[in-house]
Amino acid sequence: MAQTIICLLMVSLPAMSSDAPNLHVEPFRIDLAHELPRMKALVQNTRLPVTALYPAAGIEFGIRLDFLHDLQVEWLNEFNWTKQEAALNELPQFTTEIEGLTVHFVHAKSQESDRIPLLMMHGWPGSFQEFLPVIKPLTELWISPTRKRISFDVVAPSLPGFLFSSPPPQNWTTNDTARIFNTLMVDVLGYSQGYALHGTDRGSVIGYTLYSTFNTSVRAANLKSIPFVAPTPDEIAAENITLSDIAKVTKERTVDYRTRGMGYFTEQTFKPNSIGLALYDNPIGSDPRAGTPPSVLTHETLLTMVSLYYLTQTFQSSVWLYAQNPNTFASDYVKPATDAPMVFSLFEFDLMLWPKEYVERASNLVLYKEHDFGGHFAGLDNPPAVIEDLHDLGLHFEF
Ligand SMILES: *[C@@H]1O[C@H](CO)[C@@H](O)[C@H](O)[C@H]1NC(C)=O
Ligand SMILES: *[C@@H]1O[C@H](CO)[C@@H](O)[C@H](O)[C@H]1NC(C)=O
Ligand SMILES: *[C@@H]1O[C@H](CO)[C@@H](O)[C@H](O)[C@H]1NC(C)=O
Ligand SMILES: *[C@@H]1O[C@H](CO)[C@@H](O)[C@H](O)[C@H]1NC(C)=O
Ligand SMILES: *[C@@H]1O[C@H](CO)[C@@H](O)[C@H](O)[C@H]1NC(C)=O
Repeated sequence: MAQTIICLLMVSLPAMSSDAPNLHVEPFRIDLAHELPRMKALVQNTRLPVTALYPAAGIEFGIRLDFLHDLQVEWLNEFNWTKQEAALNELPQFTTEIEGLTVHFVHAKSQESDRIPLLMMHGWPGSFQEFLPVIKPLTELWISPTRKRISFDVVAPSLPGFLFSSPPPQNWTTNDTARIFNTLMVDVLGYSQGYALHGTDRGSVIGYTLYSTFNTSVRAANLKSIPFVAPTPDEIAAENITLSDIAKVTKERTVDYRTRGMGYFTEQTFKPNSIGLALYDNPIGSDPRAGTPPSVLTHETLLTMVSLYYLTQTFQSSVWLYAQNPNTFASDYVKPATDAPMVFSLFEFDLMLWPKEYVERASNLVLYKEHDFGGHFAGLDNPPAVIEDLHDLGLHFEF
């Protein structure tokens, strides 16, 4: 639990389907009220130190006691799970079985006949909740200045091991997830003529695998990261690449993330308060402007995120994603065998920087969008920008 919160602190700153041999699909609603009393008791009984061990130690040493304490009190006194559950349940959800796994997904359809199927994939520590602010607007008709009609049928699955999708076998990789998500789109939902995709965090890695491997069904991609080792500032300089002001800020963020933000050992070395408070056992942590419009990354959103992981008891199975995919980032940039266009989105306060010149080496880049607001959880950090980039993607989409 506390790990989720700590990680949030570290990383944030996230009709036409009937013409195929449909596999069995069950309607689904979130109903976790029965798990709530236990969580409430735990949050209530979680002992935090009365005073901070080193009051002068700031956020650079990890989550601050006063912040964690505030969130504990807010969860107990203000947070309303019933309300959050109802908001999530406004999205039509389903489950199906693919290769022996239960796969949970949101399927929100457009009313338009010329809609584009769109697969949206979250990462860790995320869920379809990240896309809550953008899903409905994406299903609605948008008419471009060139009079092109764009709307989407949105499919947002839970990754295996996350929330309501069952944990996969131990040897499962993101390649396997890519394969079953393609099955979901093509065979289960019948989008056999092709679809577009959007991915964040590990969802971007799965998205890239789909983009590069399923080149007949994936017809356009919008990603925020690609599974290649991002260049260091020195490497960028050595290539004489000129960065925009936005990308320069991201570059500074990557330096901080590389040295202080990555992994378990780094955690223990640089953020002793985070790991220390984690051992006190408890729930609770972007663009520094998080929570101010257009960001909806508020305390309430964070508490919902944490509650979802806790109440579904999938924190452990979600973190296995890292153990199962130890070599996610390739060092040699290779152009994949696909003619599908790529729209890449850079949000200023994200944690890794892939300059345009690098993304071009690994995709058919048609647009490199930079946003001066938002970070790693863009669907919550800057929903209008995510919608804008997907509309741009729609303009490049062809079945
Ligand atoms: C929590 O939200 C539900 C649904 O919106 C509402 O019916 C209920 O009154 C709320 N509870 C509190 C204590 O505000
Ligand atoms: C992965 O493990 C399953 C058993 O859980 C086994 O059936 C399958 O063959 C394994 N796959 C690989 C690629 O090792
Ligand atoms: C995943 O698929 C890619 C592309 O087909 C391949 O290069 C890579 O080795 C695979 N990774 C694993 C862990 O199987
Ligand atoms: C970068 O510019 C320097 C100085 O003009 C030049 O020597 C070097 O070859 C350039 N590097 C690349 C990768 O173009
Ligand atoms: C799609 O991938 C196959 C190999 O799997 C390749 O032969 C084919 O040329 C690719 N199509 C495009 C349009 O790149």
